[in-house]
Amino acid sequence: MSTAAALDYEAAMRLAVEHADLVKGATYPNPPVGAVILDSAGRVVGVGGTGPAGSAHAEVVALRRAGSLAAGGTAVVTLEPCNHHGKTPPCVDALLDARIVSVVYAVADPNPVAAGGAARLAAAGVRVVHGVEADLVAAGPLREWLHKQRTGLPHVTWKYATSIDGRSAAADGSSQWISSEAARADLHRRRAAADAIVVGTGTVLADDPALTARLADGSLAERQPLRVVVGKREIPSEAQVLNDDSRTMVIRTHDPAEVLKALSDRTDVLLEGGPTLAGAFLRAGAIDRILAYVAPILLGGPITAVDDVGVPSIARALKWRYDGIERVGPDLLLSLVPR
Ligand SMILES: NC(=O)c1ccc[n+]([C@@H]2O[C@H](COP(=O)([O-])OP(=O)(O)OC[C@H]3O[C@@H](n4cnc5c(N)ncnc54)[C@H](OP(=O)(O)O)[C@@H]3O)[C@@H](O)[C@H]2O)c1
Repeated sequence: MSTAAALDYEAAMRLAVEHADLVKGATYPNPPVGAVILDSAGRVVGVGGTGPAGSAHAEVVALRRAGSLAAGGTAVVTLEPCNHHGKTPPCVDALLDARIVSVVYAVADPNPVAAGGAARLAAAGVRVVHGVEADLVAAGPLREWLHKQRTGLPHVTWKYATSIDGRSAAADGSSQWISSEAARADLHRRRAAADAIVVGTGTVLADDPALTARLADGSLAERQPLRVVVGKREIPSEAQVLNDDSRTMVIRTHDPAEVLKALSDRTDVLLEGGPTLAGAFLRAGAIDRILAYVAPILLGGPITAVDDVGVPSIARALKWRYDGIERVGPDLLLSLVPR
């Protein structure tokens, strides 16, 4: 593969991010990394993303595609190339064997076992540039994995659909569907990349959701997240969440910390519960990102998107900041992180 135009490092990194996004959700326990190989003239000669666990890392996938055109070229990678022998040999060896002369990466590997790749490359005479589009990568494909490395806990995204007046259901409890078909398709893509979807028993009893990731034609996506139901009430055996489309874990607790502990082997968790569970997670400081699909409708009534979050007065409001605002069909998708 070869494209005529030469890419600068930033543009090549953005292409690497696209390839990382394509493998997001399918690489556990490895991080979803993207890589681009530029030949000596700066033209793209190979691209790739990390394969499923135990298979090739992104650099190796991209190098294979580049073949002999990699020699004398540059590897542009979203994460510092690894320097350790896990299920596959170190990426640093593959880069040196391919006679890459420059390595550009966005984010340093915080994992002490795998780190040291940049230093070894530099010691071998390779020119190393780091920090290119680092914010884009850290807030994008590597967000959840970096959080897990830092905290040891899964990254929790609270997703909800709301009317512009902050209601998550109409007065009779019906909430399907507040958001548009386009917003739901966007959510299903995110579900397919997540490791687990968490709801409370209240949502199961009210809506009987299947909590699967589905494609536009309604069929099941290849990869299904674990479904998790939190609460002490029994759920009916015929509930869709117990069907054979994916695995389901029922956690009989009201404590968000126990939920996170039960999911400690996961990285990317989507909280899709109703106002009770969302309030409990917010009070516990257990939400790392909010994704709100805001539909241009008004519902009024008593069912708000979130119950008590432990804020007695305006001065104690939980403070978040927008890190993304996009239109999804007729709706807005607001992305927020703690301030
Ligand atoms: N618009 C949206 O995005 C959206 C998303 C989900 C749901 N909804 C709507 O939300 C409504 C259901 O709300 P909901 O609040 O009942 O759903 P929920 O938050 O999913 O479930 C509530 C249940 O979770 C359990 N629970 C877990 N931790 C708890 C804690 N710390 N404190 C108290 N209970 C805890 C309790 O079950 P036990 O009593 O069994 O212990 C509680 O009854 C429905 O109308 C649904 O349509 C809307």
